[in-house]
Amino acid sequence: MSEEQKVIGVLTSGGDAPGMNAAIRAVVRTGIQRGYKMVGVIHGYQGLIDGEFIDLGIRDVSDIIQRGGTMLGTARCKEFRDDAGIEKGKAKCIEKNMVGLVVLGGDGSFRGASDLSRKGIQCIGVPCTIDNDIACTDYTIGYDTAMNTVVEMVDKLRDTTMSHERCAVVEVMGRHAGHIALNCSVACGATGVLIEEKIEDERNNLDAVVAKINKAKENGKRFFVVIVAEGVGNTAFAKPMKGLKDASFEGRKMDTEAIAEYIEKHTGAESRATILGHVQRGGRPSLRDRVVASEMGHHAVELIAAGKSDRVVARKEGKIVDYDIQEALKLEKTISADLYQVMDDTSF
Ligand code: F6P
Repeated sequence: MSEEQKVIGVLTSGGDAPGMNAAIRAVVRTGIQRGYKMVGVIHGYQGLIDGEFIDLGIRDVSDIIQRGGTMLGTARCKEFRDDAGIEKGKAKCIEKNMVGLVVLGGDGSFRGASDLSRKGIQCIGVPCTIDNDIACTDYTIGYDTAMNTVVEMVDKLRDTTMSHERCAVVEVMGRHAGHIALNCSVACGATGVLIEEKIEDERNNLDAVVAKINKAKENGKRFFVVIVAEGVGNTAFAKPMKGLKDASFEGRKMDTEAIAEYIEKHTGAESRATILGHVQRGGRPSLRDRVVASEMGHHAVELIAAGKSDRVVARKEGKIVDYDIQEALKLEKTISADLYQVMDDTSF
């Protein structure tokens, strides 16, 4: 291999997501096809600062397309938020003859990629997060697999919930975004969904869910599923809920356990809280995640080969496109009002 051969690096950053390995494979194989030497950076931006590199050849990314997690390891790196950290990263890139870097992660990781781009390294972001909360893209790698995991788990919960005629109150991931919760509530035939984006609207708050359950009971329904998004129910994020009809809960942090207690008190349905947690981040990526990861990883390298930098790959209306990172970070993503309506009109 000649000394002058240009290098492209790839790293995974932030929370892992099923499909990251498929994206790494696509980046490495496309880069080799285009004549680059490919290098993996271990442990995200921290590994870049510390110079933790591995050479990646064609066979080094064999047998990973079907695996969850990330073969490169991932981390959330505080040091890379400061200019000193970015300078250290840049120095390592130059030492390695690394002209480009593909960053697989979420919005926080793209900020770092944009900063490093401005220092002359061609950085391209590829959206990977189970939350699907990146505004510039319709789809993020890992979302489909995570939702399929939720559906599988809730189907199991339904069996026992039905047998005992209970209410299953299930907390799903999504930090501050209700996309997983809303989609899974539809797919699982849930009676109620609580998401941060709607929790202060009295037509969609906890009392509204209680009213739905009571109405469904009148219609003969005997067991219930309520999906709670992490942004509402996670103990770290949960807050007192404004305007609840039952004043005895006033001022109380309404996490998923408290929500189950409230539902039981006001519907008479024995309730159990289940927090699915990190199981949602694991497992074999679905077909969709493998295909989108391959398309996005491929596109990221094509952008570097075309001399582009400071871009994030996205999927819009079925097509792979890309945006300026700074522009992309200004966008906002909203919950699908149509899907919310479907949930509302069919869940009773
Ligand atoms: O962003 C992905 C995500 O899984 C969120 O849904 C969740 O809030 C967070 O990461 C959990 O992060 P950690 O793995 O650091 O606990």
